[in-house]
Amino acid sequence: MKIIRDPLELKRYLKDKKNSIGFVPTMGALHEGHIALIKKAREENEKVVVSIFVNPTQFSKGEDFSKYPKKDEADKKICAMSGVDVLFFPDAKAIYHDDEVSLLAPKVRGFVLEGLTRPSHFNGVLTVVMKLLNIVNPTKAYFGKKDAQQLNLISLMVKQMFMSVEIVAIDTVRESDGLALSSRNIYLSRTQRLEALKISSSLHLATKLIRKNILDVGEIKKQIRETLEPLEIFYVEILNRDFEMIKKVEVQNSVVLIEVKVGSTRLLDNIWI
Ligand code: PAJ
Repeated sequence: MKIIRDPLELKRYLKDKKNSIGFVPTMGALHEGHIALIKKAREENEKVVVSIFVNPTQFSKGEDFSKYPKKDEADKKICAMSGVDVLFFPDAKAIYHDDEVSLLAPKVRGFVLEGLTRPSHFNGVLTVVMKLLNIVNPTKAYFGKKDAQQLNLISLMVKQMFMSVEIVAIDTVRESDGLALSSRNIYLSRTQRLEALKISSSLHLATKLIRKNILDVGEIKKQIRETLEPLEIFYVEILNRDFEMIKKVEVQNSVVLIEVKVGSTRLLDNIWI
């Protein structure tokens, strides 16, 4: 596995390759969720590129940027063992400049749910993903459904900016007890981890209600909120897959989204109905 830190060197290295390239952008502290993306990329492409970059512009003031988990050596081993061809490991100076051209998230879809309490978050995500996609120029890029709003906005960016990469969505990987894997789970104490299980159980409840043909969004949201108590809720929302408001669940075209705070850790999860 080749490790490259300089964007232009990576561009040069990949330029002559005639092969299909699968790309998995990450912020490191890799877990089985990331590995699922890498595996799919490995299956579908001749070359696999993974990036590890804790992107400063997607963190708001007071968030966990400076303490975001770093596991560089373990991450390198995981990538090498997962058959990654190139690990791109830039530092912030190689990606950002003092006077930047900027990319703004769409005014509606970028500023609801996660974007409501973190207004600059998706500007940062879209900017860095655009830069990374331009550096790697992959055939396909892989993103997790766990970050459903991020996935939706990146797909929108690729479409609206007429980019030629194909975005591939990968199912959420969970612990055996249902907790969605996240690099931030290591912030949780044992008690908080138990409290966090309310998230996946409330999503499970939503699926059960929908199976019983209870499709009223207000009713399902109410029952989810009751299951989540006493956690601090940022949002409980049920939208169609274009992230528009709906009154009744549309089976095969809806997503139930939750973000809560457990201790000082924000955790998000969702289920595609
Ligand atoms: P990060 O949180 O490291 O996640 C990298 C990718 O892994 C994302 O596409 C995310 O949705 C996916 N992922 C995380 N947990 C997952 C799980 N349990 N199951 C399946 N996929 C999972 O998301 C980011 O980094 C950044 O915002 C990034 C896109 C790299 C831009 O900086």
